[in-house]
Amino acid sequence: MKKKVLALGMAVCMAASLAACGNGSSSQTTAAEATTTETTTAEAASEGEAESTESESETEAAATAEIQTVTAGKLTVATSPDFAPYEFYAIGADGTPALAGFDMALAQYIADDLGLELEVVTVDFDGVLSELQTKSVDLGMAGLSPDPKREGIMDFSDLYYIGGQSLVTVKANADTYNTFEAINKPEVSVGAQIGSIQMDLANTNSPDADIVALPKVTDIIAELLTGKMDAAYIETDVAKSYQKNYPELEIVMEVPYEQEGSAIGVCKGNEGLLAAVNASIAKALEDGSMEKFVAEANELASGEKYEGLLDESGQVQE
Ligand code: ARG
Repeated sequence: MKKKVLALGMAVCMAASLAACGNGSSSQTTAAEATTTETTTAEAASEGEAESTESESETEAAATAEIQTVTAGKLTVATSPDFAPYEFYAIGADGTPALAGFDMALAQYIADDLGLELEVVTVDFDGVLSELQTKSVDLGMAGLSPDPKREGIMDFSDLYYIGGQSLVTVKANADTYNTFEAINKPEVSVGAQIGSIQMDLANTNSPDADIVALPKVTDIIAELLTGKMDAAYIETDVAKSYQKNYPELEIVMEVPYEQEGSAIGVCKGNEGLLAAVNASIAKALEDGSMEKFVAEANELASGEKYEGLLDESGQVQE
């Protein structure tokens, strides 16, 4: 399993122009720079607070003191950046990829709220589940559905976003693969991401099809576009985002799913963190931040982006 750790100044990234973000030539440099920026911002913020809202920072300090994280002082979050507008890499003017998406903006918001430094671990989606299962990270933020089957390996936060599920094919096949019956045949290949609830949707709705499980949504899109795969189950907003880059993709129908919505996967049994995360989510929904994060993510996702994992030197894999 490929794994990369990045400490990010996402709030700074979201606010500043993309070109200003993560301009290091390797992920190591980027991480170091971003961490420095983050600390500076946090210091500046707390200096300001010290005079005006002392009781608030005391409350924050008291709350943070009770929160246990895998690395003291840090909030370690696993994600799978093949999933715009949830998480992806926005390519800056200088060609440098910077993690973006509303999950990442919310991750930074929560980290700031809890007075912790954000550290993001990027893996394929099934890796997000195993990082949580092995308690190697504090949170999994990857458009995670609160699937009851996952309750043994993680706790779920409250929902922070409501999406939907779709069946996707290419325009040329839109009249052929447009019902569950049409795709439920051994000669029809139907894709879904490994470990995702879309695999369950495939197994439930098209059990007789040739179900193909791939590690990244990006791989599924590539197979659809090259005609190696006939149809696929994909989160609707993600399919729409890929569609902007590849207009030959067609969303043929909505697929019903019971546990609709995204939650944060919290390391099992960490009740203090779960409560704090839920409080931060409520705040982000209440103060308009979440809405802003979604709008910003959609905006960035319509620009130049990369969906997948970076190579060892922090560059886009060709
Ligand atoms: N919502 C689906 C699930 O929880 C898919 C999430 C995939 N996320 C990703 N970043 N690729 O199974």
